[in-house]
Amino acid sequence: MKIDYSNISKTYDDYRSYSRSEIHQLIRFGKLKSGIKILDLGCGTGNLSAELLDCIKVDIIGADKSFQMLKKAKAKALQVICADADNNLPFNDNSFDVVIGSYVIHHIKNRMSLMAECFRILCDGSLIFLTSSHDQIERLHPVIREFFPSLIELDKKRFPQISELDYLFKAAGFKNIKHEELIISKIPIDMKYLEKVRNKFVSTFYLLSESEFKEGIEKLKAFVKKNKEPIYRDWWGTMILGEK
Ligand SMILES: C[S@@+](CC[C@H](N)C(=O)[O-])C[C@H]1O[C@@H](n2cnc3c(N)ncnc32)[C@H](O)[C@@H]1O
Repeated sequence: MKIDYSNISKTYDDYRSYSRSEIHQLIRFGKLKSGIKILDLGCGTGNLSAELLDCIKVDIIGADKSFQMLKKAKAKALQVICADADNNLPFNDNSFDVVIGSYVIHHIKNRMSLMAECFRILCDGSLIFLTSSHDQIERLHPVIREFFPSLIELDKKRFPQISELDYLFKAAGFKNIKHEELIISKIPIDMKYLEKVRNKFVSTFYLLSESEFKEGIEKLKAFVKKNKEPIYRDWWGTMILGEK
């Protein structure tokens, strides 16, 4: 099934955001400095760009293939361009100091070609991807794992292993590759979470069968109603960086 970001764009910002501490961790990890030129690849609604700009004075441009996601980013006064990262990127050689792609690499069909394109458009800076490792995907909260049993395997099929990314970074010419774990958020499994899942706040929910999704929602609803005190699930990410 194709994931439709025009539809997702309507509620994306209600459910997905970056906290200040995540942004500061990214700034430290990427050694991001004021004045540098950044490409936010697969910028979506521009959440990451907007938060970065609140913390550091950089020149940032977002690229995404979804017009509807970009419309939301434009409304935040961000510079954006429509571009499909599965094709050559519409930028000259040596255009950026840093390229950041957050939760986009799992959507890319030809990852090797994208890495080579990122290498080409970078000056002597860094490429950074934020993603989830298979180990992190496996750490899904037992309750969600029980209610949506196919979720983990579906995500593991979509998300590249960190070792694959390491290999691709190296093959494209990047050096000094490093990783760091990021706790993206602590999410209470409550009524609000139920609404997020109902609205498929993570695109993998679009890939579940209709019956598994419906059954899972019913089970989650019953669970949330029964539990007066919310329990929390963590959502981890991995940052991976290579230098040109
Ligand atoms: C999960 S969202 C992440 C958005 C944003 N980076 C964030 O962290 O909030 C994935 C984004 O990747 C974009 N995307 C998927 N495939 C793409 C491609 N081939 N070229 C450019 N953007 C793509 C989608 O349109 C969507 O906006």
